[in-house]
This record gives sequence, C-alpha cells and structure tokens, in this order.
Amino acid sequence: MPALPVPGADMTRRKVTVVGGGNVGATCAQVLATRDFADVVLVDIVENLPQGKALDINQMGAVLDYEPNVVGSNGYEESAGSDVVVVTAGVPRKPGMSRDDLVTTNEKIVGSVTEQVVAQSPDAVLVVVSNPLDAMCHVAKNVSGWPKERVFGMAGILDTSRFSTFIAWETSSSVKDVTAMVLGGHGDQMVPVVSATTVGGIPLRDLVSAGRIDAMVERTAKGGGEIVELLGTSAWYAPGAAAAQMVSAVLLDEHRVLPCTAYLEGEYGVDGLYMGVPVKLGAAGIEEVVELKLSDDEQRAFEASAVAVRDVVGVLGTAA
Ligand code: NAI
Ligand code: 2OP
Repeated sequence: MPALPVPGADMTRRKVTVVGGGNVGATCAQVLATRDFADVVLVDIVENLPQGKALDINQMGAVLDYEPNVVGSNGYEESAGSDVVVVTAGVPRKPGMSRDDLVTTNEKIVGSVTEQVVAQSPDAVLVVVSNPLDAMCHVAKNVSGWPKERVFGMAGILDTSRFSTFIAWETSSSVKDVTAMVLGGHGDQMVPVVSATTVGGIPLRDLVSAGRIDAMVERTAKGGGEIVELLGTSAWYAPGAAAAQMVSAVLLDEHRVLPCTAYLEGEYGVDGLYMGVPVKLGAAGIEEVVELKLSDDEQRAFEASAVAVRDVVGVLGTAA
C-alpha cells in the first residue's frame, strides 16, 4: 500500500513551535490551529504523545472547519525556522505546592529546551509559560542570550482573565465590557490594578464596595491554587489560550497592549528583573513597556511583588 500523507509535509505558513505537549501546550496548539494562520509544531520528550495530539487536532479541523497543519515530534528538527516558540515544558503544581516549589526541576528543563530552540530557530520570539514563570524567563533569557524584546513570559493575561471573570460575575456584566490589568510577579503577590479597572467605562470602585473588591483581588491572587485544589494539577484552558493570544499578537503584528512578563530596566522602579507589566506586542516581540500610572498603594504592592520574585530568582543555579 502506498504511504499515506503525513501532516507537516508541506509547511508553508509561518511556524509556531510549542514545547511541552501536556495540558497547557496541547491547548495552546489547539487554539492556534483553530485560528488558522500558522503551522504548529508540538514537541515533547514523551514518545508518541505529541504525534498523537497533533493528529487529533488536525482531525478536529474537519469538524470545526479550519485547515490546520500540526506536527508532533520528539525532537527539534521540525521546529527549525520557527517565528515564535512557546515553552510549556516542565512539571506543574500538585496540591500543597507553590509555583516556586518547581524552581529546581523546571530550571533544568527550561534551560535544556532553550538551548535546543536557539539552535534551530535563532531568530524566533520566545514565550515562556513554565513555572515559576518570572524565574523561568530569566533562565530562558540567560541561556538564549537573546535580547529582552524577544524573551518574555505569559502570566498577566491569565491572571487578568481570572480577575475579569470575577468582576463580570460580581457586577452581572459581560466579561467583554470589563477592562482590567493584573501586573507584578506570577505569585500570590500579583497586583490587580484596581485604579485602572472599569466596567463599560465606569470605574470598578464606583460599582462595587471596597470589601467585595478586596475579596476579588484575593481570589485572583490565589486563582491558580483554587484550580489546583479542584483538579489536583494546574489550570490549562485559560493558560493555553493566553499563550496563543500572545503568539497571535506577534505573528499578526497586532501592536496589542497586553500584560506580559518583561525584563525591566528601571520601568516601574524595578531594575534587572522579569515582572508582569503592560507591553506593546508586535512582530519584533516587545515594542514598548507601557508605563501605567499606579496609585501609591499599587506601586508599593508592585515593589513588594518584586521582592518576592527576586527571592525565587535568587534560588536559580548557574543556568540563570
Ligand atoms: P503537563 O505535565 O501537562 O505538561 C508538561 C509537559 O512537558 C509534559 O508532557 C512533559 O512530558 C513535557 N516535558 C517535560 N520535560 C520536557 C523536556 N525536557 N522537553 C520537552 N517536553 C518536556 O503540565 P502543564 O499543565 O501543561 O504545565 C506546564 C507548565 O506550565 C508547568 O510548569 C506549569 O506550572 C506551567 N503553567 C504556567 C502558567 C502561567 O501562567 N505561566 C499557567 C499554567 C501552567
Ligand atoms: C496558574 O496560575 C499554575 O501558574 C499556574 O494556574
């Protein structure tokens, strides 16, 4: 019988590689496939896993009416020349663990993945997802040697999606009308910027009591842990979609202002550290760190969050 065609034989569109074909990585690949503007390579060390998931996502196209070209691989050859690489490889949290408990294991994984990505796609933009996110961005930047504009992390879009959801529920509004921004490190000391949060253009503080806002801020900060307690592992639908949104902003040169984890050199009063801030994302990666005017309380909270991030970065070994 003649050999049947395999996916990836004719990759002609722009290329995105997602490393780590687990929950977050496969979801990101799936969302990108449905958007239909790029070919996707899914890489994982587990034999047959990325190949099986790629096949399944390709076949979903026939049902949902898109034309994907997703390839699964246990190596990096197929990823060569990628425009964007998303790194989700690593271990997720289990109940009782903080994101920071993952640091030593994931530092090794992210370091080795970055080396292989760099060898195959020297001009790519690198989006880090693995936790502890802020520290893993340092690993990817140091191992790649790439400029800060091309190495950044996903957390703020996810944290903001949680805050926005709680606000929509609280105000019985459409989540589409909520404008919010969660900044800082991706940990319990993240900073929902209440002063800039509106629903249909109306400041949140005019709609909801201070006590209810505090409760939503706390639920957001602990939002990852809430899902870990329910599922026994960390979230993936919103995280995978959030990473895909960043890929879209880069590949489609959208110039979107999104909360991402960027390397700061003085912005927001922080120097030499990855933190979540609003950035303008386009084809070259980060085009600009957008300096939002924070209230005094928010600025203090941002600085406290920076102290927490520095503690974790300090645990990194020689890779960072
Ligand atoms: P998962 O366990 O479902 O998937 C991780 C995958 O990475 C596995 O399939 C594993 O085989 C693969 N992997 C491990 N070492 C590898 C290597 N050296 N090369 C290639 N692949 C490798 O975990 P999940 O839920 O997908 O989470 C992935 C990471 O993302 C975790 O570190 C998690 O904490 C983090 N995360 C970060 C979020 C954020 O907001 N930044 C949100 C959600 C998860
Ligand atoms: C989350 O926030 C675990 O970082 C992951 O869901």
